[in-house]
Formats: sequence, structure tokens, C-alpha cells
Amino acid sequence: MLKKLVAELPKAELHIHIEGSLEPEMMLELAQRNQVQLPYPDVDSINAAYAFNCLQDFLDVYYQGMSVLLQEEDFFDLTWAYLKRCKRDNVVHTEIFFDPQGHTERGVEFPVFMQGFSAALDRAHCELGISARLIMCFLRHLDEDSAFATLRAALPWQDQIHGVGLDSSELGHPPSKFERVFGKAGELGFKRVAHAGEEAPAEYVWEAIKLLQVDRIDHGNRAMDDGELVRHLADLQIPLTVCPQSNLRLGVIKDMREHPIKAMLDNQLAATVNSDDPAYFGGYLVQNFHALIDALELGKDDILRLVTNGFRASFLSNEEIEQHLGEVKRIAEAYA
Ligand code: ADE
Ligand code: ZN
Repeated sequence: MLKKLVAELPKAELHIHIEGSLEPEMMLELAQRNQVQLPYPDVDSINAAYAFNCLQDFLDVYYQGMSVLLQEEDFFDLTWAYLKRCKRDNVVHTEIFFDPQGHTERGVEFPVFMQGFSAALDRAHCELGISARLIMCFLRHLDEDSAFATLRAALPWQDQIHGVGLDSSELGHPPSKFERVFGKAGELGFKRVAHAGEEAPAEYVWEAIKLLQVDRIDHGNRAMDDGELVRHLADLQIPLTVCPQSNLRLGVIKDMREHPIKAMLDNQLAATVNSDDPAYFGGYLVQNFHALIDALELGKDDILRLVTNGFRASFLSNEEIEQHLGEVKRIAEAYA
């Protein structure tokens, strides 16, 4: 019954890499359309390559996958497919990450991907009633100069890019490396988020909060190792965008029954549920909730808190948030 409730509730997703929604079928189709050589002949061999032991294992495959994205229509098709999937899951608002350097490093420039994304977002707004924001992530394995160049290249598109984020190989690339870029992005009016505490220790979460002045932490699992940090996150209600199936597939947890999300809620943290890279980790948003329900003793109140946190942690206006929460309440009451 909880699973049915989750499926029926309107939901927000705040941690999804659009390049991570590239399904094997579309990867093969675009490879053919663009005459890109992939090391995989078919869907089965792609799926066989998705056995990851850690974040870096995944990232190597993920950057190779995105090499099929070359034309504006490729970015449109990718984004439109994800947004249609949102509709099936009753995701009514989504804040989508993209990796500009993953494309510009291959000679694919801002107008190509931005126009593809924007056309899909506009269509989803009109035809599906889904609202969306774009957040561009800096690749943390690249240097500060490259991040600054990316920020400059984004300025003509600033009205379509809501915030900046930080992703890719975490260990050895602490938030402090990007303090100046995030400072500049903040001055320019961008919202700020950062992946922290996925593989690296709680110290990276402190740095993201104190040096990058983030509005949200992406993942944040390792924050649970530091009691003072847990209290800080709770006191300031800094949201965590948690990604259960990603955590399992990348070895952040060994078993879903060990997932810290229930402990996060019990410690009054503003935890949310998200899919991260659904085409690589075996599930979209509802499947992530269902995996938690199967593994943990979550009650109806826990589910409602996770869904409510998703809207409250979003970059929607207070009025829009309250409107969505009214609908959540209506459906939850009908369900009782
Ligand atoms: N890029 C795409 N998914 C990511 C993740 N889970 N962590 C860091 N960088 C990513
Ligand atoms: Zn992520």
C-alpha cells in the first residue's frame, strides 16, 4: 500500500544527471545516427558493463556513454525521454544536472546542448505540466581555470541556468578547490549545490557548507559519521539529496538494509529521495522509493516527510511549494 501511495503522490526530483538518464537503447540509436563507435554491440553487452565497484568505475563508463551526444536533437531526445518518464512517476517538478565540460571537452558547445535542453523543458511544461530547472555542474577532476571558463561560457544562458553544482571524482578533489568559482557564481546570482560525502569523508561536507556556501548537499551519506555535522545540518535544515540505488550500485552501502535515510529522518535531517543516474543504476524515482520500502521499516509518515522535503528543498517559490504540498496532503488523506 505504501508503494501505491508513493506512485500516486506528486513528487519533486532534485538530483538527476541528465546524461545519466541515457538508456542503452537510446545510446545505441544515437551512436548509429551520429556514427560514433561504441565498444558495445548490443543492449546486453552494455548492461554487462554496468557492474561498478566504486564511483570512478561508473564515471569511466558514463563519460564514454555521453560521447554519442553530439547534436541539438540528441540533447532534446535525451531530455524529453526523461521528462516523459517523470510523467509516469508523477514527478511534477525536477531540477536537472548537466555536465557542460563533458560536452565542451569534446567540441560540443553551449548553444548545442542548451537549445536541446530548453526545447524539451518548454515542451514538458506545455504538454506534461512538469516544471524544471537546470543546474550546471563543474567536473571536479578538472582544474579551477576550466571551471571559470565554463562559468563564463554559461553567462549568455544565465536566464536558463538556475544554479551551479559540483560532481565527478570526489576523492582528492575537495570543495575547497572550487571556492573562488563558487564565490563568483554566487555573486552572479546562481544557486549553489555540491556533491559531498558520497565517497569522501564528512570534512568535504563541512567544506561545501562553509567554503562553497551551498543551498543543498548532494548525497551527504558520510555526514552521518560526524555528530556535530548532523546537528548543524538539522539546525540549519540544509537539505540532502540522497540517491539510494546509486549508493548501492557504487558500493557506498553494502546492502539497502544499511541505508542511512531512516537515521537521517530520525535525526531531523531534510533528506530527499532521488535517482542520480537512473539508466545506469536500475531505476527512476519511484523505483528508488520502492527499494527503500522493501529494505527499511518506513512508515507512511516517513514517506510523506521525504516527499514533502523534496518540494521544500527545491528552488520553487514558496507559493509554488505550498501549492504542491496542498496536493500531497489531499492525496495522502484520501489514501488513509
Ligand atoms: N556524475 C554523475 N553521477 C555522479 C555521482 N553519483 N557522483 C559524482 N559525479 C557524478
Ligand atoms: Zn549525482
